[in-house]
Amino acid sequence: MKKILVIHGPNLHLLGQREPGVYGTVTLAAINAHLKKLAAKNKISLAIMQSNIEGKIVDAIGKAGNKFAGILINPAAYTHTSVAIRDALAAVNLPAVEVHLSNTHTREEFRHTSLISPVVKGTIMGFGPHSYYLGLEALIELIS
Ligand code: DQA
Repeated sequence: MKKILVIHGPNLHLLGQREPGVYGTVTLAAINAHLKKLAAKNKISLAIMQSNIEGKIVDAIGKAGNKFAGILINPAAYTHTSVAIRDALAAVNLPAVEVHLSNTHTREEFRHTSLISPVVKGTIMGFGPHSYYLGLEALIELIS
């Protein structure tokens, strides 16, 4: 069975209570449960992690090479700052899809740049939790 690594970046463990006007009220646990359902329907298994620590995300990407068929990532605030996560994704030879709950282009200017977008297959943003679900579908299509 093919495996996908799902990575949630900093502060996403607070979904549900964090700035609900921006991120909605769905919890990370609910998003993960729905992702698992979608994956199971496609006979794909998921490993899901959330970390507030850049180095832990870099380590997980670096080790993903021979274990996973692809990576679904919401790098959260690291989207806009992390050369290390970008370099890890570029180094590991796996298709990756970047997702964001909010449309970062309609928000503060510092969110308009993603250091991650140039090293992923594609980016889906602005659809709340559905960004994750659409991103997973796109990634499954890519690895099938
Ligand atoms: C986010 C957008 C980022 O700018 C922000 O730092 C986040 C969440 C999103 O999913 O909309 O933490 O990645």
